[in-house]
Amino acid sequence: MRTTPFQCIQQRCDPLIPSSLHKYLPRKWEKIGDILILKLSEKLKPYESTIGGIYASVLTCKSVLKETGGINGVFRVPKIKHIWGSNDTETIHYELGIRFRLDPAKIMFSSGNMDERKRMATIAAPEETIVDLFAGIGYFSIPLAYYSRPQKVFACEINPIAYGFLTQNIVLNDVTEIIEPLFGDSAHIAPRKVADRVIMGYFGQTSSYLPIALGCLKRKGGTIHYHDIFPEKTIPSDVIRDVTRIIDAFGKKVTVQSYKKIKSFAPGIGHYVFDLKIEP
Ligand SMILES: C[S@@+](CC[C@H](N)C(=O)[O-])C[C@H]1O[C@@H](n2cnc3c(N)ncnc32)[C@H](O)[C@@H]1O
Repeated sequence: MRTTPFQCIQQRCDPLIPSSLHKYLPRKWEKIGDILILKLSEKLKPYESTIGGIYASVLTCKSVLKETGGINGVFRVPKIKHIWGSNDTETIHYELGIRFRLDPAKIMFSSGNMDERKRMATIAAPEETIVDLFAGIGYFSIPLAYYSRPQKVFACEINPIAYGFLTQNIVLNDVTEIIEPLFGDSAHIAPRKVADRVIMGYFGQTSSYLPIALGCLKRKGGTIHYHDIFPEKTIPSDVIRDVTRIIDAFGKKVTVQSYKKIKSFAPGIGHYVFDLKIEP
C-alpha cells in the first residue's frame, strides 16, 4: 500500500519527537505556493522547527509558518510565526489556471473560498462592468477578468501590501486591459453609476458598505454579491430582512436570487454569499 504524506511525516518524526506527542501532529495543513502553514499545538512548541523541517521536506516547501491567531483587522492580516526555512515567504500560488503572487506571512489566502473564486470566474457577461469593493490580491477580480473577459473590472483595495500584489497579479495574468486597480477605501474611490455587478468579498461590516455598492450600480440596477458571516440559524430570513431594510431606504427593489454557504467560520456561524438583484 502507498504511504500517505502524513504517514511519511510520522515516520520521520518518530526518532526526533517523543512518541507521547505524536497525537498532536497536524493531519491537515494549508499549502500556498511553496509555503506551508501549520496549526501547531502548544505541546509541540519545543519541536516546532524540527517539525516544520520534516513537513517541508515531505510536502516540498521552502518555508513553514505557524498560525498563531486568526485573520485580523480591516486589512485582513494573518497572525503568523515563521518556524522553518527561508525568510523570503513570497510565493506564486496556482489555482484554476490563475497565478496569484502573495506573501502568506502578510496576506490571507483562504483555500476554503476556492469554489466561490471558481463561480466568480464565469459569472459575468462580456458587456459587463464590475466593481470589486474589497479586491485583496485579486481573489475574485482576476479569475473573473481572465475567464469572463468583461468590459472592465474596477478593483478597489485599501491595504498597500495587498494592493501591491494585486497590481502584480494583473500583469502576471495578462488582464491589464480589463482590470483597473484602485488604491484606497472603496467608500471614497469606487466609481459610481458604472457597474452591472458589484462584489463585496469581505466580512465584518459588509452591510455598512451596501449604500456604496448601490451607488456603484448603473441606474437600471444590477447584481450585488454580498458576503458576510452570519449565525446559521438566521439564514436566510434575518439576512433578507436586514438587506431589504437598507436597500428599501434607497428607494430600490431587492430580490435574493440565491445564497450559498462558503465555509464554516466558527461553531454555528458561517461565511455566506447572497446574490442580490437590484432594480430601480
Ligand atoms: C482579504 S479580502 C477577502 C477576499 C475573499 N473574500 C477571500 O476571503 O478570499 C478582503 C480585502 O478587503 C480589503 N478591504 C477592507 N476594507 C476595505 C475598504 N474599505 N476598501 C477597500 N478595500 C478594503 C482588505 O484589505 C482585504 O484585502
